[in-house]
Order: sequence, then structure tokens, then C-alpha cells
Amino acid sequence: MNDEPRRAWVAQALQRIEADARRSADTHLIPLALPEAPGVTLYLKDESTHPSGSLKHRLARSLFLYGLCNGLIGPGTTIVEASSGSTAISEAYFARLLGLPFVAVVPQGTAPRKLEEIAFQGGECVEVPAPQVYAEAEALAATRGGHYMDQFTHAERATDWRGNNNIAESLFNQLQLEPQPLPRWIVVGAGTGGTSATIGRYIRYRRAALATTRLAVVDPERSVFFDAFVQRRRDLAGSERGRIEGIGRPRVEPSFVPTVIDRMLRVPDAMSFAAALDLSARLGRRVGPSTGTNFAGALHLAREMAARGEPGSIVTLICDAGERYHDTLFAPGWLAAQGLDLDSGIEDSAG
Ligand SMILES: Cc1ncc(COP(=O)(O)O)c(C=O)c1O
Repeated sequence: MNDEPRRAWVAQALQRIEADARRSADTHLIPLALPEAPGVTLYLKDESTHPSGSLKHRLARSLFLYGLCNGLIGPGTTIVEASSGSTAISEAYFARLLGLPFVAVVPQGTAPRKLEEIAFQGGECVEVPAPQVYAEAEALAATRGGHYMDQFTHAERATDWRGNNNIAESLFNQLQLEPQPLPRWIVVGAGTGGTSATIGRYIRYRRAALATTRLAVVDPERSVFFDAFVQRRRDLAGSERGRIEGIGRPRVEPSFVPTVIDRMLRVPDAMSFAAALDLSARLGRRVGPSTGTNFAGALHLAREMAARGEPGSIVTLICDAGERYHDTLFAPGWLAAQGLDLDSGIEDSAG
């Protein structure tokens, strides 16, 4: 069979993705002084400025390159993903760039604003009961002769953790002329686990960082990652749907790599929401709830460093913009109506 036309299409698709990357500037690193932790500087890696609005722009690009270079995506391939949020929006962006149909299999009850954003990028949404999203996405890809991107399995292997301007290489390069170019902590959450896996591996790969920099992963309520890390188990399962969109999972996802994580912090949801509002006020613009979880974890570690009289820098992520949560976190009365426990504190794997 003559596969020349297909190969030519793949070559053009790869060029389009690279051209898109060249048109995009790298995301900013914003320093923030912390009055509550003198001597510690927090840096915020602002992933909300990507063309598709979140840290998932990087993952979506990697998953498309992975699919194209493994011969899994070709002309007319329907792209399917199990995601209700950031990943689906970013994958729909790249599918449109390549002129491919995109279907997001989303859990019933997904925020209308997220469905609108997927549709805005040209994607179709299929709503199913939450526990069935993985199986339904796989089945739908099979019936349509498409490709199931499966972010939860492929995030850790599709992302180039050695370089290629991954999120870790980018932030270390941006810190080089800062007073403390090697951060003491990098703090991120986990949904697929791909971001934390990439950062944890890169810290080791960039030998200079290995001595100084540690990776802390924050986890919200209703997620199994913290317990899986502490108990060194992968068979844990939860039932309740998380409140902090994008992070926390009811199962230990294949892309969650605990061996590159140095410490985990379980952050109560009330604290995540409050921290997102606090950081939004400090920055003068709105950030999303999972950024609040990051900020709460970073403050916990900054206070610990300040209490020890240990100067240094900490890096965390702005994962997406607050605009996506106008109907929830930033809607008057929404937070109060959640009936959250406002008293519980952070659980720390370091005891
Ligand atoms: C808003 C938001 N923050 C954080 C994350 C976590 O990223 P990762 O999947 O790389 O662990 C996600 C993942 O979907 C997300 O959507």
C-alpha cells in the first residue's frame, strides 16, 4: 500500500505543531515576596498564558507528537480523550490546528463553561457517568476508528523530561540570574501526575539541582494520591468526585510516579479555595482553585523555611486562569454554599 500521502500529511502536521510552538512565547515566571515568610521568595510559573489557557497546552502538544510519531494519528483520525477540563480544551485546540475531529468524553455534571470552551475550540462533548469515562472513551475511539489519547496513561511517557523546553527546563533557565537560582522546593498538584513526574525526573537529570531542589506534591480531599504515597500502595480507590478541578484522583493513575516525589501535602479544599482567592487578591487577577492548592502548599513550606531562618526560593504553578471559575469559586455565595470544613489543616507526609 502506498502510504506516501499519509507520511506527507504527518510531516505537515508536525510542521504545524512546531510552527504553533514558535509563534508562542514561553510562559512567565513571576516573583512574589511573602511578608509571612521573610527571606523566602516565591516564583509563580504562569501556565494560564498558553494559547489554550492552561498547563495542559504542553501535555496536549506532547500527546499529539507522541501519537503522530508512533503512527497512531493520520489524516482524518478522530481524536478522543477522557477529560472534563483543561486537557480536553487544549487537545481540541491542537485537533483544530490539524483539521481533525475531536471528542471529549466528560463526566455528567461537568461545568457548562468547560463544555463551552471545548466547543469553542471545535470539539464535541459526550457526557457519561463519571466512573465510565475511561471505558467509554476507549470504546468510542474504537467505533469511530479514532485514537484514544489517554492522558492518564501516556502523560508521563509522552513528555520529554530531559529537555525540549519542558516546564522544568523552562523554569530553571528563567531562575538563572535570580539571587537563589536553585529553588529549595518546587510545589505542584497531580491530576494525571505528568507534571510532577516531569519535574521530579528533571531535578535529578539536571544534576546541579539534585543537591538543593526537592519536589513537593499537593493533594486535595477525595483523592488517593497522598495515601498512596504514604502507604506506598497503588491499589487504592476512592468514590467521591473531587472539588478541585484538574487535580486529585479516585485511583492511582499510571502517570503518577511516587519515586520522584520527595514530600506530599494534603490540603483541605476550604484552604485551596481560600488560597486561590488570597493569591488572586495579591496578584490583582484571578487564578483557578488548583493554583490555590499549590499556593497553600508553598506557603506551608515557606513558613517552615522562615521559621528555620533558611533563606531560599520556592516555585509553584499558576495552572489556569480564574475566568474558568466565574460560575463557581468567584460567584457570590458559591463558596459558602459548599459547606466546607474550615478548620482542618494541612496533612504532611514529613510528619
Ligand atoms: C487546572 C489543573 N491544574 C493542575 C493539573 C495537574 O496536572 P497533571 O495532570 O500534569 O498532574 C491539571 C490537570 O488536569 C489541571 O487541569
